[in-house]
Amino acid sequence: MSNSLFRRKNITNILAEGGDGVHGEGGLKRVLTLKDLTFFGIAAILGAGSFSSLGAAIFDGGPGVVVLFVITAIACGFTALCYSEFASRIPVAGSAYTYAYASFGELFAWIIGWALIMEYSIGNIYVAYSWSDYFTSLMSKFDIHIPAYFCTSYMEAKDAIANSSGNKEAILAWNTAPVIAGLRFIIDIPALIINLAITYLVFRGVKESKNFSNLMVWLKLGVVLIIILVGGYFVFSNGLTFNWTPPISGGSHSFMPKGFSGVMMAVSGVFFAYIGFDAVSVLAEESKNPQRDLPRGMMLSLIICTIIYILLTLVLTGAVNYQKFEGIGDPLAFIFEPENLNVGWMQFLVAITAVVAMTSVLLVFQMGQPRIWMSMSRDGLLPTVFQKIHPKYKTPSFSTIITGLVVGIPIIFTDKTFVLDFTSIATLFAFLLVCGGVLLIPKKEKIPGRFQMPYINGRFIFPLIVAVAFVTAYLLSKTYFTEMFQFDFSSNEDFVNGKSGFWDLATPKVSLIIFWGFAILLALIAFVKKYSLIPLMGVITCAYLLTGMSKSNWLWFIGWLCLGLVVYFIYGYNNSKLRGK
Ligand code: ALA
Repeated sequence: MSNSLFRRKNITNILAEGGDGVHGEGGLKRVLTLKDLTFFGIAAILGAGSFSSLGAAIFDGGPGVVVLFVITAIACGFTALCYSEFASRIPVAGSAYTYAYASFGELFAWIIGWALIMEYSIGNIYVAYSWSDYFTSLMSKFDIHIPAYFCTSYMEAKDAIANSSGNKEAILAWNTAPVIAGLRFIIDIPALIINLAITYLVFRGVKESKNFSNLMVWLKLGVVLIIILVGGYFVFSNGLTFNWTPPISGGSHSFMPKGFSGVMMAVSGVFFAYIGFDAVSVLAEESKNPQRDLPRGMMLSLIICTIIYILLTLVLTGAVNYQKFEGIGDPLAFIFEPENLNVGWMQFLVAITAVVAMTSVLLVFQMGQPRIWMSMSRDGLLPTVFQKIHPKYKTPSFSTIITGLVVGIPIIFTDKTFVLDFTSIATLFAFLLVCGGVLLIPKKEKIPGRFQMPYINGRFIFPLIVAVAFVTAYLLSKTYFTEMFQFDFSSNEDFVNGKSGFWDLATPKVSLIIFWGFAILLALIAFVKKYSLIPLMGVITCAYLLTGMSKSNWLWFIGWLCLGLVVYFIYGYNNSKLRGK
């Protein structure tokens, strides 16, 4: 049994199959250039993360959240190189799922496929909620006011009341909602409608033409640039730069008002903003020169978005004190509101662009999810109905409808924070496995014109990097390591007042203990096996970001993985095409 759990797909066979049934078999033309791939990357990356979750990230971490944007960009950069290595070896409509099947074997491939449901479908729930925030704000500019209880999620309103949060909109929704049979009727209708519309478009086989998609990216980039320029101008001309170092207790000021642990609390939101560069790999069969252009396209889109995120964060945290971002779902429009910078036309422009930007992100992911399910179904890990192609529209009809339901139903009973955390933890986990997968695939001959990840022997460098990180952490805070092992919280106000339980406070420490243990172990293995440095750095940076996840994220994620394993053993294990091979 243990061997069959790790049965692997042969790369030659994957290539012979030629894709996922949507891409390869259709014999799609190789038309996409480096510019198209980069633009596709930006189309998938720049969306709810910058237009929406940036608000919560700033509230958690203050201006210092820019540091986290840099750390996350580095982790994503290493991961992008690992994706590229796989994409150059398996230039079919790849996804982390296909790559894992070739490297780790079936069980891990299934786990990644299962985790990718989080990235593609659950991630889209967050984008749909954010779309709704901006849509509502846009409507209000036309004097159409949607009642708060029709554009807020039930859980968000309930939590806002329970935690006495400053989220005015959610509190208004709770206080004004009609009560039916003792239950408050609060539902995010615009989020449901946009999901329905996108599902319909994907079902009908919307062809997001290259030109249209590129036009949308120009629009997004143009408006973000205007926000940076106009916002930046006001920050300096109104003398607001003091907001970059807000006051903290004791009368001093800090770029990181809640410390580095506050910055790390923003991991989910910041990481979410980067998700999407990996979707470029699904275009392997449509690009003119995938081996050369895929890695470049991913890296370029990442670099452009990183610069944008840093500038945007500086503008937002300069324009308004970071504490005012609590519960703000449309932060880029918020800074231009009358009580802030008061630029009416900017609010309008930002709201329109956000609606367009997020629609393009929704489309990318809603089209990606059925493709992954089709691959899994072709391998026998999901029922064959997932491969069903609509006779007229030639789209994966069943998978598309199921995707619509997986996105739509939870919109009714989840909230933004929950889905954001859930998406980020699962995607980070999938990225970590992709980087780990590169360590396990055999070395290959260098073929001219093909991307080849440079092999830098990590034998000495990686342990050295771990050692330097260890010493730096100690030098920056002499109590860093001793505090990691102190589990007495009796002096913590939240603990004493019953606001935080023991495990809520202990989770970051436990995660750090596991992280450092893992880093030391990996350094030892790298030394023995002479592992390549780039994937090692990918693994360790993704692992570090995972330490920012809370206890409830971990519990939900572990529960989700366990459910996945049950499904695998009931269905996939017995129906796999590799069974008996
Ligand atoms: N990075 C994508 C977004 O921010 C998922 O919407």
